[in-house]
Amino acid sequence: MQAGAVRLKLSFDFGWRFHLGDAPGAEETIFADTAWRSLDLPHDWSIEGPYDEHAPTGGAGGFLPTGLGWYRKTFNLPESDRCRLVIIQFDGVYEHSTVWINGHELGSHPYGYSTFTYNLTPWLNFGPKPNVVAVRVDNSRQPNSRWYSGSGIYRHAWLTITDPLSVAPFGVYVTTPEVSRESATIHARTEVRNGRTTAQHFELRTQILDAAGNPVPSRVKGKTGQESQVSGSGNLAPGAELAVESTLSLPTPRLWSPGSPELYRLRSEVLSAGTVVDATETVFGIRSIEYDVNRGLLLNGTPIKLRGMCLHHDGGAVGAAVPEAMLERRLRLLQEMGCNAIRCSHNPMAPELYELCDRLGLLVMDEAFDEWTVRKPQIKFGYSDVFRARYERDLVDFIRRDRNHPCIVMWSAGNEIGEQWSKEGPEILGKLVEIFHREDPTRPVTAALDDIFNQHGQAPVAFSGLLDVVGYNYVDRWGTRRETQYADDRALFPLRKFVGTEETNPGETRGNYRFGPMLGGGLIDGRVAPAVGPEGALYTTDTIRTASLRRFVSTHDYVTGDFGWTGFDYLGESLWPRKLSTSGPLDTCGFKKDSFYFFQSIWTHAPMIHLLPHWNWPARVGKVVPVVAYTNCAAVELFLNGRSLGAKAREFPAQGTSTGWNAYALPQIQASTADLQLVWDVPYEPGQLKAVAHDRSGNAVSEASVRTSGAAASLELTVDRPTILAGTRDVAHVTVRALDAHGAFAPLADNQVVFELSGPARLIGADNGDPASHESYQGSTRALFNGMALALLQSTPDPGTVRLVARANGLGDSSVIILTHKAP
Ligand code: GAL
Repeated sequence: MQAGAVRLKLSFDFGWRFHLGDAPGAEETIFADTAWRSLDLPHDWSIEGPYDEHAPTGGAGGFLPTGLGWYRKTFNLPESDRCRLVIIQFDGVYEHSTVWINGHELGSHPYGYSTFTYNLTPWLNFGPKPNVVAVRVDNSRQPNSRWYSGSGIYRHAWLTITDPLSVAPFGVYVTTPEVSRESATIHARTEVRNGRTTAQHFELRTQILDAAGNPVPSRVKGKTGQESQVSGSGNLAPGAELAVESTLSLPTPRLWSPGSPELYRLRSEVLSAGTVVDATETVFGIRSIEYDVNRGLLLNGTPIKLRGMCLHHDGGAVGAAVPEAMLERRLRLLQEMGCNAIRCSHNPMAPELYELCDRLGLLVMDEAFDEWTVRKPQIKFGYSDVFRARYERDLVDFIRRDRNHPCIVMWSAGNEIGEQWSKEGPEILGKLVEIFHREDPTRPVTAALDDIFNQHGQAPVAFSGLLDVVGYNYVDRWGTRRETQYADDRALFPLRKFVGTEETNPGETRGNYRFGPMLGGGLIDGRVAPAVGPEGALYTTDTIRTASLRRFVSTHDYVTGDFGWTGFDYLGESLWPRKLSTSGPLDTCGFKKDSFYFFQSIWTHAPMIHLLPHWNWPARVGKVVPVVAYTNCAAVELFLNGRSLGAKAREFPAQGTSTGWNAYALPQIQASTADLQLVWDVPYEPGQLKAVAHDRSGNAVSEASVRTSGAAASLELTVDRPTILAGTRDVAHVTVRALDAHGAFAPLADNQVVFELSGPARLIGADNGDPASHESYQGSTRALFNGMALALLQSTPDPGTVRLVARANGLGDSSVIILTHKAP
């Protein structure tokens, strides 16, 4: 409940019945559903498995089941709500849902990623007579997504109960047209709707609150004294709607930015005859954005480079139904890597993702579609089937849902859209851009283009020219000079603004290492094998392409930044037996791969160093094993069993002279490589590898080591948050690692681990990141993959002590304690 007792926003997640398969007549109130399974939302039935090489969804959907399902929920409303307006909201249902209330069909919603609402009011019962909401979800037309979609009501559902004279759903739009450290102008457009049966006079009161909900001194421009919060009034016929424009000013605002994600709330109250009949609060941030042809994105007047990653919506073991605490952990891990931006590829995400980005300070490119009218070759059904009929409504709803989030700094109209080359392309894009600009004139529109090889005449200039910022997917795959495509296009189009919507990440499998072609085994038919294959990239070379593009982007201010494909491994887009794509620097468990540290080395400043590979190569004694270090320090000295193998140095970005010929602001580095990684060819012997990183003045500032381990002898359990909240469906992530008898990590262990849980929590998933594992995510056992596994524990309503025991043959038992306590 927000803002007093006048408006209720109730979770509608609890107490549903579910049936997998069709159930004719299940929309009828009297239908008997007592034999159906009881569950709470969010719910994704696909992730419940099993994997099947011949599943209709194929590799696109991770070989998991899809099909058709029904949900029903029976609920009562008090007599006191009889004259109120009742709206149901689904944050996301995949896909083709149809909703009924008490046997009355409310409508169908094909798009599986967008939020939608229905007005239930005319068909409701009050008092002892119950109501039944029925939802039919049809995800049987397969394949319909290029990646794992999940199936069902996989996001939250809500019931909003208000006076019929009230603010319309998503009816508040807050912008900050003037922003400085001294003052800010805040503009609010509030749509008030009269759902009462008679004409109504209303007043609208708006007020700015700080993040904690306390009023801050602000005033409605043009008004004084007592009136200072009344921003408008009007007369509304029954069923009519009026938009009230209010302009407020706020002295010394706390500006929103990634380093300081300050938030405010706008409280909007509707008054009738002097009484508040509706009140709602809208979270917003005060910040300015501007895109400059030469300097890229300016946030509050200061240039900021987008260091981004693309994200799909699944959360690994939990499929598409991702608890907020898991999302938060994922976003924080990206921030730890130095990432400051995410691209919602290629669809609207759960509302809580944007709330988290607002709160944590991540910049967002919010993307609407993967298809317009042209179907992608990988699928047989898709949004293109309904685009013409639905796009306008879906796009408007998407923009209105999201446009108050300060984190969103750019819209994307689509990804690798087939119309880029077609005659209709510019016409469709023109309409979409017009809708974006109409619904939100404050943010630019891009689209992720995948063939913008303009100088060779394939250019869809008529298309790209409609974009405020031109999005390049894999800019470094075109032309003869790969990463310089930006420079070529800037010469051709000096007024173009650029963003790298999608770029290649190293794409390795955590803990797997392949040796390079010079060491044998890397040649196929006398030619060098492709660097990226089913076994992952060659670990000595896999960051080189990424590095050369990132170097270009970071040193050319006019490129706004770019987004790696992807931040986390994601389900789907795979070939059997794999069920997921390994393009993330973090695997589905959120375990860090080596490339996590590569990004950290180019994106962060606190001294760090990371060494790879592991040091267990019994078959390679005396043969060269290349050792790679990722560091943001000036130089690294490597030691094997205490003997120095020499120091190497890198400089990024390379320093130019500052005040005159040969004058440098910082001590110079005699770099030993132009790469962004340091490599030593080390004849393998077991023992300890240690690397010491030095700053420019030669001080040791960071250290890393890897040790040859013996066989796994025990399990180590650690938890990210030893205390979580009861009653909020909070999540603790327990990491399991195999250790040898001396406590060294055993990097190849694959023992089967069995989990036993006691206390008030549920095991909602077990994972190990293995792309080819067909073990159920929902079982209480999981094999270690390259020495590691993950257990996900979710709190229940009760507080208490939770104990997780992990057991494996020969490794004994280990346990961890987690406390769940009530929110204060
Ligand atoms: C891109 C596409 C992504 C994903 C990726 C796989 O071209 O936009 O959605 O398919 O390729 O590498």
